[in-house]
Amino acid sequence: MKVYVTRPLPEPSVSELLAGFEVEIGVRGEGLSRVAPHVDALLPTPADAVTRALLESAPRLRIVANCAVGTDNIDKDACRERGIVVTNTPGVLTEATADLTWALILALTRRLREGEALVRSGTWDGWKPMELLGFGLQGKTLGIYGAGRIGQAVARRAAAFGMGVVTFTSRDATERFDELLETSDILSVHAPLTPATRLRFGRAELSRMKRGALFVNTARGGLMDEAALVDALEHGPLGGAALDVYEHEPRVDARLLSRSDVVLLPHIGSATRETRLQMARLACEEIRRVLSGEAPVNRVV
Ligand code: DGY
Repeated sequence: MKVYVTRPLPEPSVSELLAGFEVEIGVRGEGLSRVAPHVDALLPTPADAVTRALLESAPRLRIVANCAVGTDNIDKDACRERGIVVTNTPGVLTEATADLTWALILALTRRLREGEALVRSGTWDGWKPMELLGFGLQGKTLGIYGAGRIGQAVARRAAAFGMGVVTFTSRDATERFDELLETSDILSVHAPLTPATRLRFGRAELSRMKRGALFVNTARGGLMDEAALVDALEHGPLGGAALDVYEHEPRVDARLLSRSDVVLLPHIGSATRETRLQMARLACEEIRRVLSGEAPVNRVV
């Protein structure tokens, strides 16, 4: 049985767990359409689109084991219609993503990018009472959109910084979303990208945020209208943004690149050695299970 892994993963996940299968490892996911007709299992990443057209060309495919918790890169309806199992990797990336969210919050509020650039420029000439003044966290309100595992882990860390927390989940009433927009000093996004959450933060929503509020997104870029976000930074009310994900990833709105009130990272929320190894292991285990006739553990479809 043949397994296609779209990109190299931390080892020994593939060599240990997929031993006995015919495994091909791609470079940047570009081999997907070539191998689709011949594979029994696919192991893609969030950067690889598993489309209906691709699935239609894969008659042997039994499982798509995404190396991610988000599965918005996969056409799940098409998988359901064809009886193809879809699995993800929940739990193992919660703490890494929550840590990275706080790294972004601190980098933004304490102007770490500008401070570091100043020191590296060789032009810093000593302590000044008005230099690089930031935004204190104590007593401020952190809004969390999507209070699942990662949202809750971000909220737990907020207590250590003396912040109050307001959360919104899809089960909450609309008024709660209004409260989130209107009371958050920092609003951090932690929901999956679904048809219901796509572009949830558009022009109208962003314009209702507090003057000077900060917007943080480590979930999926598709939840925000990136052009509207830039306008809200340029003309208010936003005072800054910290992003690990982008609406049209890997493209980034060019107007963001030159702004000093944003921090931009390349989708590295789960990027610790420990976490990526665990993600790879979970995905490989699911393939081994399904191709051996066992039930998958983290089944999405
Ligand atoms: C996920 O798991 O969905 C992240 O975006 C990648 O770790």
